[in-house]
Amino acid sequence: MMALTPVLPDAKAGYLRSGLQQVRGWLDASTAVYLSGIEVAQRTEDIVGDVAEIGIHHGKSFLCLSLGLPADQRAVAIDVFDDQSANVDNSGRGNRPTFERNLAAYGAGDNIDILQSSSLDLEQAGFVTAGRRFRIFSIDGGHTKEITENDLWIAERTVVERGLVVLDDVLNRHWLGVISGLFGYLADGGSLVPAVLVPNKLILATSVDQAKQYRDLFAATFPTALEKADVPLAGHLVDVYAQAHWLVRGENDETGPITGHEPMATITAARLTELEGQLRTARSDLKAVQQQLRAANLPLYRKAARRMPWLARPVRPIFRRVRKVMGRPR
Ligand SMILES: C[S@@+](CC[C@H](N)C(=O)[O-])C[C@H]1O[C@@H](n2cnc3c(N)ncnc32)[C@H](O)[C@@H]1O
Repeated sequence: MMALTPVLPDAKAGYLRSGLQQVRGWLDASTAVYLSGIEVAQRTEDIVGDVAEIGIHHGKSFLCLSLGLPADQRAVAIDVFDDQSANVDNSGRGNRPTFERNLAAYGAGDNIDILQSSSLDLEQAGFVTAGRRFRIFSIDGGHTKEITENDLWIAERTVVERGLVVLDDVLNRHWLGVISGLFGYLADGGSLVPAVLVPNKLILATSVDQAKQYRDLFAATFPTALEKADVPLAGHLVDVYAQAHWLVRGENDETGPITGHEPMATITAARLTELEGQLRTARSDLKAVQQQLRAANLPLYRKAARRMPWLARPVRPIFRRVRKVMGRPR
């Protein structure tokens, strides 16, 4: 499926088109579009706040959230980085110098805060008491049940009322701590509400009402990418968004595919219409030939069978097969 992104700030659009392939990490290309697009859509909806991510690695998803951010909003990157002894399940491996190089290479602003910490230590460090301030909180650090639960509680207590939380690897069969942590958090009374599922990430809102608002906002922002609506999950309904081949639109009207998606992107809508037309013509030609065959084969065969039965005998099985394929001659 081909789809057009919403109009994105040039830094974001440029990163999606040519940076995504260069930065190492774990992020589906369509999910990169969903993260980038929803960050911008929140702004047009006047949802104010900072953005944060736990689990940076080299910054692949963090760049989607932080590039093109207004100068008065901050992007907070949290990772154990050098302290890999705190990375208890070896989920990725944060590398601060590489991350900082990527921030510079793709044009991140000065409004980035880098916090070297295990998410398990954030509460003690006063991260939660600093209050509700994030409009997007992405969770992609340690993938154990304990860490996932911890990170969901931290996110719940620091996102603004109209904010959202993004949980990575929720359906990854290699990292079942994440889904265990999600259900553990919900069973313990967590108030975040599943709203939208994009490839490999679950998006949660702060209430049932906000989940509905986000499902509507996704539908308005990515109108052609909804794959399945109203899928029940943990007592709620989520909308599932597809993997697609995206044409990325920047503010300067430049449109281009994500690197690696070019072959699909060249099949433009016009070309698809042309191909559909050719298919329709071919189908009607086939129908005409079938009709001619039906009209011709009965008299021919009968004549042959009557006049030269010894000659018709070998073709009888073929005739039967033709009749089976074509339907009975009328
Ligand atoms: C799967 S990677 C993150 C991938 C990244 N979001 C991307 O877009 O490629 C997980 C990251 O979490 C970090 N990490 C692991 N345990 C953590 C913890 N308890 N607190 C903070 N970061 C942690 C790792 O160092 C690693 O960089």
